[in-house]
Amino acid sequence: MSLSRGDGFVHLADYRAPAWRVLHAGLVFELDPAATTVESVLSLEPDPARPGQPVTLDGEGLELLAIELDGRALGGDGYAYDGHQLTILDPGRACELRTRVRIHPDANTRLEGLYQSGRLLLTQCEAQGFRRITFMADRPDVMPRWRITLRAARDAFPVLLANGNPVSSRGLGDGRHEAVWENPHPTPAYLFAIAAGELGRVTKTLRTAEGREVELNVWAEPGDVERCRYALGAVDRSLRWDERRFGRGYDLDVFNVVAAQDFTMGAMENKGLNIFNARYILADEATATDADFLAIESVVAHEYLHNWSGNRVTLRDWFQLSLKEGLTVFRDTEFSSDLHSRALKRIEVVRLLRGRQFAEDAGALAHPVRPDRYKEISNFYTLTIYEKGAEIIRVLHTLVGEDTFRAGMDRYFADNDGKAATLEDFLAAHAAASGRDLAQFARWYAQAGTPELAIRADFDAASGDYTLTIDQHTPATPGQPEKQPLLIPLRFALYDADGGEITTPPEADAVVREGMAELTAARHVLRWRGLRGRPLPAFNHGFAAPVKLQVDYSVDELARLARLERDAFNRWDLLQRLATDALLGAAHAEAATQTLSDVLADLLEDTSADPAFVAECLALPDFDTLAEQVDEVDVEALVGRREELLDRLAEDQVERLQSRYEALADVAAGGLDGPEMSARALRNACLSWLTRLDPQAALAEAQFAAANTMTARLAALRCLLHFQAPGAEAALAAFQQQFRHDPLVTDKWIALVATRPHPEALADVEALMASNWWKATNPNRVRALLGSFARSNPLGFHRRDGAGYRLVATQVASLDAINPQVAARLLGAFESWRRWTAPHRGPAREALAALEGKLGSPDGRDLLERLLG
Ligand code: PHE
Ligand code: ZN
Repeated sequence: MSLSRGDGFVHLADYRAPAWRVLHAGLVFELDPAATTVESVLSLEPDPARPGQPVTLDGEGLELLAIELDGRALGGDGYAYDGHQLTILDPGRACELRTRVRIHPDANTRLEGLYQSGRLLLTQCEAQGFRRITFMADRPDVMPRWRITLRAARDAFPVLLANGNPVSSRGLGDGRHEAVWENPHPTPAYLFAIAAGELGRVTKTLRTAEGREVELNVWAEPGDVERCRYALGAVDRSLRWDERRFGRGYDLDVFNVVAAQDFTMGAMENKGLNIFNARYILADEATATDADFLAIESVVAHEYLHNWSGNRVTLRDWFQLSLKEGLTVFRDTEFSSDLHSRALKRIEVVRLLRGRQFAEDAGALAHPVRPDRYKEISNFYTLTIYEKGAEIIRVLHTLVGEDTFRAGMDRYFADNDGKAATLEDFLAAHAAASGRDLAQFARWYAQAGTPELAIRADFDAASGDYTLTIDQHTPATPGQPEKQPLLIPLRFALYDADGGEITTPPEADAVVREGMAELTAARHVLRWRGLRGRPLPAFNHGFAAPVKLQVDYSVDELARLARLERDAFNRWDLLQRLATDALLGAAHAEAATQTLSDVLADLLEDTSADPAFVAECLALPDFDTLAEQVDEVDVEALVGRREELLDRLAEDQVERLQSRYEALADVAAGGLDGPEMSARALRNACLSWLTRLDPQAALAEAQFAAANTMTARLAALRCLLHFQAPGAEAALAAFQQQFRHDPLVTDKWIALVATRPHPEALADVEALMASNWWKATNPNRVRALLGSFARSNPLGFHRRDGAGYRLVATQVASLDAINPQVAARLLGAFESWRRWTAPHRGPAREALAALEGKLGSPDGRDLLERLLG
């Protein structure tokens, strides 16, 4: 992949297979935090179809100590190294290249390549970090087999881990020791990993369905080992689930997982050696919330499931990123849905889509799920690639059904095992298994923007003819002014006056079956004849199509639907719609509010409903979701209206809230079973509404004092801080003190402080930045303080005086020099700035403009350019 066009972009259309392949990589590390040397022996083989090409290897900022080709030292005329790329004149035959380089893990704050976290040495190589360790064709379609030798001082680095299976270990006599690992599966460099240091583990051995004995280990710094048990269980459950649901087994003798306090992303699926952000591993009831436990299980599953969707079948190039990420999010979501409540999982995902992915798809950073060009691939680890990518797979699943989908997956894995694949390979397997032409479906990958479906209903009382006219439209996005119609499976139902479902299929200019229309054109018409009365339609059950719907309902119709819909997700969705109408639908806002309140009253009284589901219904659409639905975002007005509505609803429900809060106390007291977590979810939702009504009441203070789970304690602390209740200061001080040695729990209170819904939160954020709590090199801490502030504190970030924007932009500039990926993500908080009202737009533009010339990294520059462009 070269910058052949000289425009600064890498283009999908410029892809060329590598002229040289690396068949085997043998690496020897002499590990030391200050100066590590890496000796590498690469077996290189030319592509016979492309003779005469030089060998070009990536190597970023390496100190080259020695270089030999087939045992002969290369002189200055035999190679060239410019700090980015090593070029060797065409050797004309298969050969062996030996190099030795020196690198400096303790100075590596970007946390890419080999770096130090606490006293551990760790790697992070996706997407292009391996080239910071040693020379390699650092592209996913080059897949050597690996032999990795680690040497280090035994006292400081007693545990030495790498990809694959352990081969041998021995003492070296001088206080140093050595471990050798072999990864027999062809594996691209982005999946390379090592971890070294003083690590303890929890472990378990099992036999796979194919009869392989596998040792599962979860490693952490010695003091944290007990908090790894839940994650170990999650690995076990993931392995079994992939066997059952996808027929995929594990393929090495060990599966290692390591927790690190300093990690830029969530976790990484390195072959046989996953490396995790500690926040997605460490948990017990005293330090982790229920949400943390569920997130840990799902991230553990995500990384484990990559072993097939990503590792065994990898990517041809980075444009295919969603081929592994969208697919693996789909798989981990199915895992969570199979193990827990499918409806609750769907609600969680849809909230994320509507609040964040839709905004991304409508903002300055919008891009297709398969982009056709990029400047910096790190900027494409986005909600669009991950979450929208997963939704597209779900659309396919909806279209073909579970059995055919599974057949398509089997075929995809069989045809591409050990290879570097493309989306076309994926689609070809599914086309073959389903007998469908997926050409139009493929547009989902090429077109950015969230499709909108406008549905108009007409009823002719005389004839009983009822028509639904469905118009499809995808708005323009940067670089894509025109859009073509997508293949959208639209679920629908019609109810008659008695609430019975009308099952007669419509006449239609689209394929319609069992309550689903396959939309393919800009407009479709569905027609029913001779109906006895005007039916009530419902659409997009389970949010099967990731689209925005425009359907005009009267409040009465919405109220009827709320009673008719039995499916939990659809009921929740209707309540979201009612709340949105109450907040944004000026004409019948009051009627919508009343209906919403009535439905919530019923729900709160319904003790047979899952309390966690009721809690989800109490949670109104968040600020981001609302902001996404208006043309111009007036931050204060939107937040203000939302708060008013919450006040009003809470007043209506006060007795019910109190009685549920009390009745659930016993079940909520502890334990991680479904009903226990559910009880806490509803109890904490009630607590929040009750504290809103009366911050002086000591309810939150009492819950804080009596809590024996982090879930209860943190929810109480949030109420105290966010409603500025009397006990807030004391509770915060006690919490800080109690958990001051635990960085993950410290991040929790910091995020609460940063999200206090008040413009004055800015001063608290500044105070924290000036304190010892601030750690600019730790991504979790940066996200807890600045990420939460910029993304989840609209009143603070969008202060009229622009101080919120300036604070974030200034920090982006200094973080860019420390960890460009962390800085670039933070900068993403400005993605929707052009839709903010003028008083915000001006200061936002100024804050961004002030960054020009101040960002040294390609990541930051690329993002800034797109934001301002
Ligand atoms: N591939 C990782 C995942 O999705 C995410 C990641 C990307 C981690 C880049 C580190 C760097 O699971
Ligand atoms: Zn992933």
